[in-house]
Amino acid sequence: MRIGTPLSPSATRVMLLGSGELGKEVAIELQRYGVEVIAVDRYADAPAQQVAHRAHVIAMTDAKALRALVEKERPHIIVPEIEAIATAELAKIEADGLAEVIPTARAAQLTMNREGIRRLAAEDLGLPVSAYAFASSAAELKAAIDGGIGFPCFVKPVMSSSGKGQSFLEAPGGVQKAWDHAMSGGRVEAPRVIVEGMVDFDYEITLLTVRAKRAGGVGIETQFCTPVGHRQVKGDYVESWQPQPMSEKALAAAQDIARKVTEALGGRGIFGVELFVKGDKVWFSEVSPRPHDTGLVTLVTQYQSEFALHARAVLGLPVSVDMISPGASAVIYGGRDEKSIAYEGLDQALALDGTEVRLFGKPEAFTKRRMGVALARAADADEARARAKQAAGLVKPVSG
Ligand SMILES: Nc1ncnc2c1ncn2[C@@H]1O[C@H](COP(=O)(O)OP(=O)(O)OP(=O)(O)O)[C@@H](O)[C@H]1O
Ligand SMILES: [Mg+2]
Repeated sequence: MRIGTPLSPSATRVMLLGSGELGKEVAIELQRYGVEVIAVDRYADAPAQQVAHRAHVIAMTDAKALRALVEKERPHIIVPEIEAIATAELAKIEADGLAEVIPTARAAQLTMNREGIRRLAAEDLGLPVSAYAFASSAAELKAAIDGGIGFPCFVKPVMSSSGKGQSFLEAPGGVQKAWDHAMSGGRVEAPRVIVEGMVDFDYEITLLTVRAKRAGGVGIETQFCTPVGHRQVKGDYVESWQPQPMSEKALAAAQDIARKVTEALGGRGIFGVELFVKGDKVWFSEVSPRPHDTGLVTLVTQYQSEFALHARAVLGLPVSVDMISPGASAVIYGGRDEKSIAYEGLDQALALDGTEVRLFGKPEAFTKRRMGVALARAADADEARARAKQAAGLVKPVSG
């Protein structure tokens, strides 16, 4: 294992594809090891671009543009931060030996489409999942629901994230509307949805799972962070906490699922394995082969946050998943549609015991855009949740 000097011929170059708030923390961690960081996004001044050596603005779904940029920058390692990338081109880049893709190009390909990862998890690996079917038209969707999925159910575009284009259907009547909504909210030109039966869970977790070089040994070792609990509103996370208490059996089942799915995807790096839990029973929902938004909480709860773990794993360094303290995160939204906003109340938020705030520096606010996060450490997760929420509420986006 060897790291060069940035901005010199010996530099170790890492290219981030996607430069949001999660990528920003990864970039900072890579910078700490003297890695040369190249941050790419589809808009200028994205969060990670502000802490990188160089920034590029391209359509990352454009295979030609992606190839050209990789040939120009010659990164040693490519770290996807989002799903919407020309992943077939990534596979070619990897196969041509141009750069190493984290965790693997195949993992990026399988997880950018809900059909790929669902079929892998349920049909190849036999993991427990909700009832599901795929449909390429409103008529097929109706047939799938009538034919067994039933109500209530979730309809999601196969290519989308953060709840975009998702509908929750409780009764017949809304099927056409759900289809139309999926078509308006989905990414790329893919007229296809997954419909899932509702899992009646007690709670849901992200099991952050890291595949990294074995310390002092050979091969890759899988380690699990303490479970992160979270609450979602309309498919988007609003708060998370660590630890989420679980029964011994549920924890073992969760780790077994996470091990199987991450082994199947392979490579090195952190994965956010999303699971539903009821009593001792655990269902696989989906997996991100990269840091997970609910894992922002680990910025205050672990010695090595999910971003530090990712950076280390990516570079072939050993990792530790040890916790410092229970903690929580609460999202700070834009609350308005406006360019160049400012924030007030940071002083009040940080006056609370054990709190921290991250402002992402996004150049434009939308009402429901995640602009920052409040974090809190406390004696237990409940206390931390209350304090993180309080802190988030004190930070007020205002006209800039
Ligand atoms: N089959 C299901 N049963 C019960 N709840 C579900 C189901 N599918 C989705 N949900 C709820 O909706 C949330 C978002 O779903 P999902 O993770 O599939 O969407 P997403 O668009 O990928 O969101 P993100 O990108 O934020 O992870 C889940 O975390 C869960 O709370
Ligand atoms: Mg999800």
